[in-house]
Amino acid sequence: MTAAKLGLGGHSFIAELGNDPEASFEEQCAIVAACLDRGIGLIDTTYYQERLALGEVLERLGRRDEAEIMAWNFFKQPGKERELVGFTPYEPEHLAAMLTELRTDRIDMLVVHVHDDAAKLREELALAASWMSEGRVKRVALGMARPEHLAELPVGHPVTAVLAPYNAFYQEAGELFRLAKEWGMETIALSPFVRGWRLDELGADKDDAADILLRWAATQPAVDRVIVSMRRAAWVDANLRAIGRGPLSEAESARLHGWLTRKG
Ligand SMILES: NC(=O)c1ccc[n+]([C@@H]2O[C@H](COP(=O)([O-])OP(=O)(O)OC[C@H]3O[C@@H](n4cnc5c(N)ncnc54)[C@H](OP(=O)(O)O)[C@@H]3O)[C@@H](O)[C@H]2O)c1
Repeated sequence: MTAAKLGLGGHSFIAELGNDPEASFEEQCAIVAACLDRGIGLIDTTYYQERLALGEVLERLGRRDEAEIMAWNFFKQPGKERELVGFTPYEPEHLAAMLTELRTDRIDMLVVHVHDDAAKLREELALAASWMSEGRVKRVALGMARPEHLAELPVGHPVTAVLAPYNAFYQEAGELFRLAKEWGMETIALSPFVRGWRLDELGADKDDAADILLRWAATQPAVDRVIVSMRRAAWVDANLRAIGRGPLSEAESARLHGWLTRKG
């Protein structure tokens, strides 16, 4: 139960959005193996660099079938191979490239990043549905969705999950998640710590801060799963233990409240 609540974030495989330098290939293998050994199967990949890394790791481990691979529409762009570029709406040629990067024949959860061009979004959902009918995509999710995106979903859409950053500091996605649950969708909260460096800014003991912020996100009634990036294998157990401790005590809630209301 505890392990099913946690997912591994793809930023674990890159240096750009963390404090720590990029984990070595051996450490990346150890992180993914630690997750799979403990029943954490959901692994996100946002940027194409993360797909390349995860594909190589799962191939080395020989454990592709144990993972539930999630993948977003952030693609490699000519001249920007070393950058983290923004999302691009899906086109028919994108899936083959993603599968090659991931060294697999299927994506377990394909994430469609929302935007405000409703006609284009409908086109992307139809494309995702066609990939599902071919067995190359198992499920489709909406990423960074807002409540209005759910309301505008066309009849017969393939979406069964929503993803958005949701943590004690940024609670805007609460309404989206409550609505998605009413619609029978799965809800996946991203970035329980905002970013790793936010933990440092709190000035509290970092282990305590991570414990409290992760438990806040994981115990919200409308949250099914939480994605955390972990650049060290040791954090897999630390985060699992935190989730196992359940809701915050009154004293822990008061500490969290202090961080949320602090100025500056
Ligand atoms: N937020 C978004 O907009 C967004 C969008 C698309 C996808 N995602 C997904 O959400 C995932 C998580 O996002 P995120 O990396 O931005 O934020 P996060 O998961 O809230 O923060 C991860 C950072 O927290 C630190 N950490 C993890 N476990 C720890 C522990 N037990 N003790 C102390 N520090 C710990 C690490 O920091 P350092 O390594 O930096 O020290 C790690 O990089 C991403 O990997 C991605 O898959 C997020």
